[in-house]
Amino acid sequence: MDSIGSSGLRQGEETLSCSEEGLPGPSDSSELVQECLQQFKVTRAQLQQIQASLLGSMEQALRGQASPAPAVRMLPTYVGSTPHGTEQGDFVVLELGATGASLRVLWVTLTGIEGHRVEPRSQEFVIPQEVMLGAGQQLFDFAAHCLSEFLDAQPVNKQGLQLGFSFSFPCHQTGLDRSTLISWTKGFRCSGVEGQDVVQLLRDAIRRQGAYNIDVVAVVNDTVGTMMGCEPGVRPCEVGLVVDTGTNACYMEEARHVAVLDEDRGRVCVSVEWGSFSDDGALGPVLTTFDHTLDHESLNPGAQRFEKMIGGLYLGELVRLVLAHLARCGVLFGGCTSPALLSQGSILLEHVAEMEDPSTGAARVHAILQDLGLSPGASDVELVQHVCAAVCTRAAQLCAAALAAVLSCLQHSREQQTLQVAVATGGRVCERHPRFCSVLQGTVMLLAPECDVSLIPSVDGGGRGVAMVTAVAARLAAHRRLLEETLAPFRLNHDQLAAVQAQMRKAMAKGLRGEASSLRMLPTFVRATPDGSERGDFLALDLGGTNFRVLLVRVTTGVQITSEIYSIPETVAQGSGQQLFDHIVDCIVDFQQKQGLSGQSLPLGFTFSFPCRQLGLDQGILLNWTKGFKASDCEGQDVVSLLREAITRRQAVELNVVAIVNDTVGTMMSCGYEDPRCEIGLIVGTGTNACYMEELRNVAGVPGDSGRMCINMEWGAFGDDGSLAMLSTRFDASVDQASINPGKQRFEKMISGMYLGEIVRHILLHLTSLGVLFRGQQIQRLQTRDIFKTKFLSEIESLALRQVRAILEDLGLPLTSDDALMVLEVCQAVSQRAAQLCGAGVAAVVEKIRENRGLEELAVSVGVDGTLYKLHPRFSSLVAATVRELAPRCVVTFLQSEDGSGKGAALVTAVACRLAQLTRV
Ligand code: G6P
Ligand code: BGC
Ligand code: BGC
Repeated sequence: MDSIGSSGLRQGEETLSCSEEGLPGPSDSSELVQECLQQFKVTRAQLQQIQASLLGSMEQALRGQASPAPAVRMLPTYVGSTPHGTEQGDFVVLELGATGASLRVLWVTLTGIEGHRVEPRSQEFVIPQEVMLGAGQQLFDFAAHCLSEFLDAQPVNKQGLQLGFSFSFPCHQTGLDRSTLISWTKGFRCSGVEGQDVVQLLRDAIRRQGAYNIDVVAVVNDTVGTMMGCEPGVRPCEVGLVVDTGTNACYMEEARHVAVLDEDRGRVCVSVEWGSFSDDGALGPVLTTFDHTLDHESLNPGAQRFEKMIGGLYLGELVRLVLAHLARCGVLFGGCTSPALLSQGSILLEHVAEMEDPSTGAARVHAILQDLGLSPGASDVELVQHVCAAVCTRAAQLCAAALAAVLSCLQHSREQQTLQVAVATGGRVCERHPRFCSVLQGTVMLLAPECDVSLIPSVDGGGRGVAMVTAVAARLAAHRRLLEETLAPFRLNHDQLAAVQAQMRKAMAKGLRGEASSLRMLPTFVRATPDGSERGDFLALDLGGTNFRVLLVRVTTGVQITSEIYSIPETVAQGSGQQLFDHIVDCIVDFQQKQGLSGQSLPLGFTFSFPCRQLGLDQGILLNWTKGFKASDCEGQDVVSLLREAITRRQAVELNVVAIVNDTVGTMMSCGYEDPRCEIGLIVGTGTNACYMEELRNVAGVPGDSGRMCINMEWGAFGDDGSLAMLSTRFDASVDQASINPGKQRFEKMISGMYLGEIVRHILLHLTSLGVLFRGQQIQRLQTRDIFKTKFLSEIESLALRQVRAILEDLGLPLTSDDALMVLEVCQAVSQRAAQLCGAGVAAVVEKIRENRGLEELAVSVGVDGTLYKLHPRFSSLVAATVRELAPRCVVTFLQSEDGSGKGAALVTAVACRLAQLTRV
């Protein structure tokens, strides 16, 4: 059994040498001894100062203070809860670094709450010094070799092994299975590892070994393993303390106090890394000359100063340095030393622990000193035991001061006056040293009297704890795989998007030729964008988006708009056509009264955002309702006539309906008023659609070959012929089947605001049924249609994770932080696909225009409107990126329409009135 202290210190040769000059008198020698042992005395005030200073550093580090760099690192560990006890399964655990020059492999079987406890099987392997100081690859190959040697001996099924890696060094963790080594400690100094992801290094070594297919699913600091492995007593352990070759602690901190984490709920385990604590003000007074010598001769001078006063790798060395000093001073061993006594690392922790043993200590002192080539007298034995006691008592007291600082930090973060806490302890100093834990407990009670602390020795050095974390990691990894499988169909690659673009081009061409196509390419009779000479007052209606608006648009050198929003109750939108148009006229009359326009018959432009076959600027046959509208007796009717009939029904109202335009056209016109290059209109709101200026020669069914006409593509229906089936997922099918127009508007149902929330809801239900979300509990609220609004996607994707939880909890979804993260990823996948599909559509349109005009390069603007496009944090940039990728020869500028398409409808009306004026003169 390798003992603490064998590595990390330099060695010397064997013969005894005694000091020439005369031995000091008895009074001098006891003074010398007292003065020497006094150095290891630490006062309560000094301990309190260390406690306070360490607490200060911990809170600085938690707040993410960068400079001056806090003395301790406070590293989040991605372990968010103490064990549920539900963990089950067989796990391999590899422990490296906790016990100095050895590594341990364990086979741990977790049997959940009900199951009986199965003793882990383990094997320890001594790590050769040259491996601890050699190349990193050599160390990890050694570890992989030990793994397979251990597994060779295990009568177990060796398929799909899952491994938890207990790596006891300071690391930046970026995931349960991703951890970068910050710096070696405790006698290790392998090259090529610091700054590297140690999980990847182990995976590479296991692959090179090639004996077993082992999945490394979690990396854990030994303090975390110790905390997680503690037998669930009256309360779970929330602090893990290790004093083995090195020393450190971890504890469950409130996530909101850990600045680097974007989280405000729940707790996260933080590894304090107190070994590096070195506040000269606090530590200076208690550092002895022996500490400075030890540090100076160590592998990492100046680093881990606190650890070098407590860790088992150093206690033996401190004792040796004191004994060598006292021997040289002639007050010990008759002033004689031996090469072994002067050799670094010759006194190990085991020696110290044995020499302090109240019953067998004295005998052991004899044996050990004789092994060191010394012949101790009786007084020497006693003095040696005093030295051991002084060194170890100080170590336990300092460790207590640090633990008291952690307890104070816990109290602060839980705003509790008193604290009851269980601390799992591990490591051979705690296990083997006869008095360490009792001094520790006693000193903690002194320094943190308001804390009721129970020290719970961890049963097997944390192997079970590591297996618990591995079980959680394995579960999360399995969930992540299921999430990736579920979202994979939403991750569209370049070829798939290019195929959509090509499909859309084909459908456009067929639609323009008047052939059967899912794109109806409807002529709008808008031949030109405004030229700025329009003038007058116009009424405009804007129906079909989230809101129904009535607008008064005054066009002079600029455009002034006064508008009022009215609601269209679902009962009206899905009632009779007469009821709907009577409601519209009621709103107009209300608006006119409010604006003092009653009795005036202003030219009116009607933005009617549904597919209409226009027979003229003021004639549009509704082809079919979309977006939740289903008013009867309208489809196949001229919408303008329906409006005029409603006006007639409402006597004493004069309205001159001049134009009916689609909201895409209104948006293009509205933006075209500012930027004449705006020749495309795009809506991504409740529904989605686009229009653009097509060469008249390409538009079948409209006389004339010169000039252009705006074409309403009605791209919402793209794919209704099945041409998008290759992209449609089971969730799209569920949304379509549940819609009021199944089989229709398939492209729209993959893109627009009315449907994205529903797609997400169906995915969340699916993931819940797989047990990936909400612990597999089906949530009643989530069964409700439209409960997950599309606006939640925009909010969830633009807020911090903590706010995401707030939204979802308001929805009645009890979730963990992992759940919130997964819901966020689902939203991102669904909105990304929507934006990319929309981008592929725009790319098809701009390329069509470029080819129409036989241009190498096309610069064109797109007027855009719609809540989803405007409010979603990433939608617009994803659309633009997709267009750049699929139409690299087009420079496309997206103009967000400020005044909606009502202004556009008024401008179309103004142009119509101007043209009508011209024909009249
Ligand atoms: C604006 C336009 C409407 C258009 C709507 C689409 O409000 O003025 O004509 O229908 O955007 O977006 P929405 O998100 O409201 O469906
Ligand atoms: C390491 C810690 C570890 C401790 C106990 C220290 O040297 O930095 O990560 O927890 O030793 O093994
Ligand atoms: C309609 C289009 C409209 C689009 C955006 C679709 O459902 O069919 O006419 O332009 O929604 O509002």
